[in-house]
Amino acid sequence: MCNSWQKNLPRPDVNPEVGSGSHAQQTAQTILRFESIRGSIRNHQEDNLMATCLVTGVAGFIAAKVAEFLLADGHAVVGVDNLNDAYDVRLKQWRLAQLEGRPGFEFHRLDIGDRHGLAELFRLHGADRKAPFDAVINLAARAGV
Ligand SMILES: NC(=O)c1ccc[n+]([C@@H]2O[C@H](COP(=O)([O-])OP(=O)(O)OC[C@H]3O[C@@H](n4cnc5c(N)ncnc54)[C@H](O)[C@@H]3O)[C@@H](O)[C@H]2O)c1
Repeated sequence: MCNSWQKNLPRPDVNPEVGSGSHAQQTAQTILRFESIRGSIRNHQEDNLMATCLVTGVAGFIAAKVAEFLLADGHAVVGVDNLNDAYDVRLKQWRLAQLEGRPGFEFHRLDIGDRHGLAELFRLHGADRKAPFDAVINLAARAGV
């Protein structure tokens, strides 16, 4: 499977000329990992079950896109982000604004280091289900450090 958003990226598994550890290779690996997760979630969907995914760092560059694709596939996304000021917060708020209001999306301003806050989120979402989330995609990071 090759989507338009990934077709121009070098595939590290088939292209040995992509230097190990390069930014392009890391990006390609991240996308391949996501495609694999997306495939598993699709299998879930084939059983007519929409998945509920927790996506951390959802206001970030990668996670906002991941959330967008999951929503487009018809899944529910619970997004968390602490909206830190590692770079211009307005960019994060703009990404969130693209997601908020879309069916199936909810946002919680939360730091993933806040164990009590996370436990409460899991408790709330697990109340009427077998498991709180079908997938957790952890992309919260101080990526530029
Ligand atoms: N951007 C790329 O090209 C690229 C390529 C390969 C891998 N990655 C990896 O993907 C991940 C995300 O990168 P990005 O470029 O989207 O970074 P980003 O900084 O745009 O997004 C990270 C998000 O995480 C949030 N965050 C940080 N710490 C948090 C915490 N403790 N609790 C809650 N939210 C928190 C930030 O506010 C931010 O919105 C990183 O692990 C990065 O290494 C990124």
